[in-house]
Amino acid sequence: MFEVHTFPVPEDAKERALVTKDQYQEWYKKSVEDPEGFWAEQGKRLDWIKPYSKIKNVNFMVPDVSIKWFEDGTLNASVNCIDRHLAKRGDQVAIIWEGDEPTDDAKITYNELADHVGRLSNVMKAQGVKKGDRVCIYMPMIPEAAYAMLACARIGAVHSIVFGGFSPDSLANRIQDSECKMVITADEGVRGGRKIPLKVNTDKALETCPSVTSVVVVKRTGGDIEWVDGRDIWYEEATEAASPDCPPEEMNAEDPLFILYTSGSTGQPKGVLHTTGGYMVYASMTHQYVFDYHDGDIYWCTADVGWVTGHSYIVYGPLANGATTLMFEGVPNYPDSSRFWQVCDKHQVNTFYTAPTAIRALMREGNGPVTSTSRKSLRLLGSVGEPINPEAWMWYHEVVGDKRCPIVDTWWQTETGGILITPLPGATDLKPGSAALPFFGVQPQIVDNEGEPLEGATEGNLCITESWPGQMRTVYGDHERFMQTYFSTYKGKYFTGDGCRRDEDGYYWITGRVDDVINVSGHRMGTAEVESALVAHDKVAEAAVVGAPHDIKGQGIYAYVTLNAGVEPTDELKKELVQWVRKEIGPIASPDWLQWSPGLPKTRSGKIMRRILRKIAEDEFGNLGDTSTLADPGVVDDLIDNRQNRT
Ligand code: PRX
Repeated sequence: MFEVHTFPVPEDAKERALVTKDQYQEWYKKSVEDPEGFWAEQGKRLDWIKPYSKIKNVNFMVPDVSIKWFEDGTLNASVNCIDRHLAKRGDQVAIIWEGDEPTDDAKITYNELADHVGRLSNVMKAQGVKKGDRVCIYMPMIPEAAYAMLACARIGAVHSIVFGGFSPDSLANRIQDSECKMVITADEGVRGGRKIPLKVNTDKALETCPSVTSVVVVKRTGGDIEWVDGRDIWYEEATEAASPDCPPEEMNAEDPLFILYTSGSTGQPKGVLHTTGGYMVYASMTHQYVFDYHDGDIYWCTADVGWVTGHSYIVYGPLANGATTLMFEGVPNYPDSSRFWQVCDKHQVNTFYTAPTAIRALMREGNGPVTSTSRKSLRLLGSVGEPINPEAWMWYHEVVGDKRCPIVDTWWQTETGGILITPLPGATDLKPGSAALPFFGVQPQIVDNEGEPLEGATEGNLCITESWPGQMRTVYGDHERFMQTYFSTYKGKYFTGDGCRRDEDGYYWITGRVDDVINVSGHRMGTAEVESALVAHDKVAEAAVVGAPHDIKGQGIYAYVTLNAGVEPTDELKKELVQWVRKEIGPIASPDWLQWSPGLPKTRSGKIMRRILRKIAEDEFGNLGDTSTLADPGVVDDLIDNRQNRT
């Protein structure tokens, strides 16, 4: 057991803090006692076209779940990220781009950002994209990905970003679900020296996506690609010919800003829908206070724009605050495992925000690649995506941060739009492994399996009892599923799907998912998705997938596979199935372990008992619990005998 140390707020963090310990208490109290007053004030951080008079209109009760914030106000998100900064900081760098190769970089000022976004907006309009239309963005980490997001926001189109690591099938499913009219992509992406065939994947996906009438292609590598005349447009040619002036569309606060697909415990990924006003207020506010952002800071979040972290904390939050945000195309270990810290030195990064999986992978390489760099510019470190184990936290603090830099362990979700539970660097004493305390306006509640609230130091299921402006509004095209997934388990409460412990100081410790979602390297993967990919193979009869502890990834994917009668279980077939899942979903869904299982543990009614499969995958088969309800208890012994070696 790791002994819990508390790390007090360092003096210099206190001095520059936007929020001190006393202020945190005072503001938090106000935010929960008078949410209308609190958020009415915070809404002013944005520029509104028509100011709001209504603040909050929320109902968490099924079947009438409805969430509205600032509902009579109008605004435009791109104006808030660009135009309003131009008078004061037109020549300030908005985006620092660091390419995959250390020799490749660029700096884009706010004036230049305005020019790029205006031109692309006009190109999109000329292609017939109108307010409310959906546009899919399938891009590498290049500035054009941010231009594409902001151009959508400017003309009122709803973007749906699909991570560049997803397969043509996954891309097609997402495009079909929201009936996108346009895809913005690149010829190829580059990561860690390897090419990613984005245009080839797009072409393949579009064979089954009749809604798409145009494809804008950024030339990233100049690699060979096919061209569909009348559909495909080169980004460079089209934007050069377009005017940089594009008047922004006036959007209602509750008009959609984006859809982002994320995995749940059942079925296909859900289109999480975020709207304009509340999301922008929340992204901007959390970026400012959680990262204690001051004018002139250089801020780097290593996420990909394909995930929500990239949306809120590379693009919308920082740019709404007029910040300089760094966008990195590459990976932590290319050309070598010093890369992150070299980039920190090169661009004098002050705030660095990454995922525990990256920290664990770099920790394995030893201290040398870190200590060979200066990192003097660093002031604050952040962590997101999964629980950070105290060992990794300590290494991040001692070796990367030279014991100087506070670490903000930020807990949140695609659904929450922004950070909900987190330390504030100048206000919160830190405990390694704890996400600490709720952000302003956030009211966490831990409940037992019956939904009874648990008080004091306790452990249970994490719910949030009151809305906050950044909350998702619905599942695109399926409000029923939204209500079922989040508001029906515990009546009248938003259920996060996470387990959580609260200690005697009121600190929250997220213990991981309590549903059938696996968190692989901070990426969410539904067990049902991997299972349906496996059974789509013609040699597979049945599959059951669970998460199992993994040294680097946090959780890995453990698949139990039953083959069709007469099919030989060979090592070749194992490899083929792993490849098959990669191809069907994408590399992030590759099973880490695959075990042949002639039978699966099922109840007499045919339900697979995942609890047992999870225990076997965790090597905890001494404690399987009650197996007497199984239709055939004998299958368990076979599964134990043939379990995969996880080390
Ligand atoms: O289980 C929690 C975990 O990641 C889930 C949300 O995943 P996603 O929607 O992909 O968003 C990731 C980035 C915000 C949560 O339900 N999670 C996220 N951050 C933390 C975390 N678990 C523990 N500690 C965190 N800081």
